[in-house]
Amino acid sequence: MENDQLSTSVSPLALGGAITGIFVLIFSIIYLFVRSPSSSETDETEKPSKTENDRKKSAPKSTTTKPIKQDTKVTNKFAHPWLCASLRAHSSSVTGLNFSHNDKYLASVAEDDSVLLWPTKDFDGKEHKHTRVNIAFDQANRVIFSPDGKAFLVNLLKENVIRVYKFEKRADGLITNAHAVLDFPKKNESPIISIGIACTGKFIISAEVNNKIVLYDTKGEVLDTIETHQGHLTYAAVSPCGRFFGSSGFMSDVRFYEVCFEKSNGNFKETRKAFDLKGHNAQVSCFSLNKDSTRAATISKDNTWKLWNTDVDYLHKQDPKCLYTGKLSYNIEDLGLIVLSPDALSVAISIDNRIMFYNLSNEEKKCEQDIENSHSDTIRVLIMDGTGRYVASAGDRQIRVFHNIAELKGLIDDLTEKAHTAKQLTLKERMEEQIHDAMSKIDKILNGAS
Ligand SMILES: *[C@@H]1O[C@H](CO)[C@@H](O)[C@H](O)[C@H]1NC(C)=O
Ligand SMILES: *[C@@H]1O[C@H](CO)[C@@H](O)[C@H](O)[C@H]1NC(C)=O
Repeated sequence: MENDQLSTSVSPLALGGAITGIFVLIFSIIYLFVRSPSSSETDETEKPSKTENDRKKSAPKSTTTKPIKQDTKVTNKFAHPWLCASLRAHSSSVTGLNFSHNDKYLASVAEDDSVLLWPTKDFDGKEHKHTRVNIAFDQANRVIFSPDGKAFLVNLLKENVIRVYKFEKRADGLITNAHAVLDFPKKNESPIISIGIACTGKFIISAEVNNKIVLYDTKGEVLDTIETHQGHLTYAAVSPCGRFFGSSGFMSDVRFYEVCFEKSNGNFKETRKAFDLKGHNAQVSCFSLNKDSTRAATISKDNTWKLWNTDVDYLHKQDPKCLYTGKLSYNIEDLGLIVLSPDALSVAISIDNRIMFYNLSNEEKKCEQDIENSHSDTIRVLIMDGTGRYVASAGDRQIRVFHNIAELKGLIDDLTEKAHTAKQLTLKERMEEQIHDAMSKIDKILNGAS
């Protein structure tokens, strides 16, 4: 079943099946020939073991993250109608989150040297099980799933390299453990701030503070190295469609590159400039593209956020257009993050420890919800799942998972408009059904009605 879901997400890219095969093959080969550079273990307990704490004390702290305030305030009491789950098991601040490509798992990584894997089907329940994988002799601050769901990648803080962990699964597909299979060659000199992998499995990026972005294939072979000249980098990401990657930094523009492969043999060809987002007056701390890269959202220290049309003929020098600029209701003191939904129907924004949700269907973008103090410290990670249903955030030891009602509202408006113009009666009826579904989902979340 998992493979089915994988191929649906990859099939538009035609080569997806073959690539997945190659990816699997590569990992099998690596698995056979590379000895695991570290050990890992699994447990389902909620509390960190003593040895873990001891190890943390002796391990030198990373110099790349600013000192995290002691998490004395336990934010267990946080409640909100849109809150779906608070995931508690990390013993220090969560620094990275990623949903798997079939949305079955959420991975989290924290300063406590562990990656936790949370089955998303438990989110609505009372109990939130997880599988723990310890990152031995180092600390990781970013985590991403491989598109085939067979591995995850972390950025190791001390080594400053990407490490690949392969899952061990039960017959029914449940992840029980993971073990390290490969360390990428060390190519970044300054701290890596972002890592990403294309959904095609064709390339992986590691972006460092000092403007350098290294492209690898899944074996860790370097495909290319790009210098972005943006002062210093704050954020980088691969587009959900798997064609582009982008970076933002001290300069106010966001730069996107297209990664090109030979049509004949699928080999890497070149990285070329695609388009820039120009319009902010200060550094952009985060950006996000929708699933087909036709829309982008950005947030800047100029205290605005913008929505862009990136569906442009960049080969003929057509520039993306800014569709909307929103003034933020709060000044960004520490960090602003933004995430656009896959269908560009909603956007979630975090400013320091506050999260706001916008329904994007109308000209004026309505802030549907403004949630303060959702974390005891600045929110460092904000993501959406592949359907736009959930927004997950991290800013202390806990992970908050919110129902993205703004997306459902955006969907209702979108379908209502489409239903008006639909000529076919069956189509119209199906849309009305979907509208009804979305409405009852909202009702169920807010009132518990079914
Ligand atoms: C997870 O990581 C992949 C690879 O970088 C990325 O394409 C995807 O958008 C991430 N998903 C979420 C929900 O953050
Ligand atoms: C979405 O936001 C617009 C305003 O931008 C509002 O008119 C509309 O009612 C909202 N949609 C829903 C379903 O609440």
